[in-house]
Amino acid sequence: MPETVTITDNRTGRSVEAPIVNGGVDAKAWSDVLPGVWFLDPGYMTTASAQSAITELDGENGILRYRGYPIEQLAEHSTYLEVCYLLLHGDLPTKDQLETWVHDVTYHTFLHENMRRRFMDGFHHDAHPMGMMVSALAALSTFYPEAKNIEDPQNRNIQINRLISKTPTIAAMAYRASIGMPFVYPDNSLNYTENFLSMMWRVAEPHYEPDPVLAKALDVLLILHADHEQNCSTTAMRVIGSSHADPFSAVAGATAALYGPRHGGANEAVIHMLTEIGSYENIPAFIESVKGGSDRLMGFGHRVYKAYDPRARIVKAHADEVFKVTGKSPLLDIALKLEEIALSDDYFKSRNLYPNVDFYTGLIYQAMKFPMDMFTVLFAIGRMPGWLAHWQESLEQNSKISRPRQVYMGPSVRDYVAVGDR
Ligand code: SDX
Repeated sequence: MPETVTITDNRTGRSVEAPIVNGGVDAKAWSDVLPGVWFLDPGYMTTASAQSAITELDGENGILRYRGYPIEQLAEHSTYLEVCYLLLHGDLPTKDQLETWVHDVTYHTFLHENMRRRFMDGFHHDAHPMGMMVSALAALSTFYPEAKNIEDPQNRNIQINRLISKTPTIAAMAYRASIGMPFVYPDNSLNYTENFLSMMWRVAEPHYEPDPVLAKALDVLLILHADHEQNCSTTAMRVIGSSHADPFSAVAGATAALYGPRHGGANEAVIHMLTEIGSYENIPAFIESVKGGSDRLMGFGHRVYKAYDPRARIVKAHADEVFKVTGKSPLLDIALKLEEIALSDDYFKSRNLYPNVDFYTGLIYQAMKFPMDMFTVLFAIGRMPGWLAHWQESLEQNSKISRPRQVYMGPSVRDYVAVGDR
């Protein structure tokens, strides 16, 4: 059987046989046969917006690989910074490459003092850290105007280095501003994740001593969030990047997309949901409200995974390690019971609804004392290398500016009527 499809316009009898390559069909074949007829696909339910070599998802079998490496192996053996290098450069770094990369990231964690004094301090006392994050990332473009030179690969790498280095600093600064605490400067004697915890939690002690179990758990969580092919925020990154905007403005847009509760905001929404359910006894009524359409089981469902999200399995396994240090979350039992019931209920099974990465992540963050409005900020830190790898790949592919067509449904032509005659 040929690996092709035949597209025929029955109005003209014209047809074309198009090859199926890597699971896709080039839309040009469609437009050759049907000029001016658009393939309508809001939400990209069945449309591939890019060719990419970065991350592979197999939704039917719950498989996730970064540059071919299974997420389970990276979570077990790698570090977040090593995974950043893998996503950005396509291969695991040699020892020397990794040392250079870690050094370069470590020594670019500081922010221009005006970012704190003039910018971050200008937010209202109860500003949501994600709103601060989106704004601060965009503001960085005003400190590095040379970042507009996106055609220069070396310049791109310098800006990528800055963003990987400075995102945790901005995140911690947003948190400290939101609780009225003085900002903690980066501590270059700590590794990437430990330094972030130091900037978050150090009070008056001269040196922050991170708990190694919590630092490791957070490093794994950052690995799990590092990339996920053409998700909503990565698509936003590629679309903004296609206009040749600078990378700081592009990641600000991607971060804004991540902010939504359907996407990165789900980890915070899960905790609100579990808290609202409050006890075992309320679970059946909640399940019924979901099935009736008046509630959503946050942390469940996924556009691609029609099986258990492999990341959720890893998060669940690490939760036990964290709870040994922090004490078990009172919401864990409700989450486990909710999962048990949902996985056996036909409403969820028939819709292939399984826990996704957000279902258990929030429980760990909460146990680690992160406030809920920081959960999506943590997701943004993790996803930064993914956004930048896709931005880089799209520029290297010399992609066209993203400009989809539409199916017009509005009124046909009509003449203007003076206001007195309407
Ligand atoms: C992330 O894309 C990515 O890769 C994202 C992400 C990443 O790493 O970047 O994996 C991170 O965003 C994970 C998803 C986090 N969001 C949530 O947990 C919010 C709850 N989930 C959903 O809102 C929903 O499942 C989506 C948004 C994740 C996916 O939505 P789709 O693919 O558009 O599916 P859909 O809304 O068309 O739902 C299909 C059916 C519908 O029922 P019917 O209309 O057919 O009767 O399933 C139902 C939906 O009502 N459904 C749910 C549900 N999710 C889908 N019903 C109850 N609870 C849910 N969570």
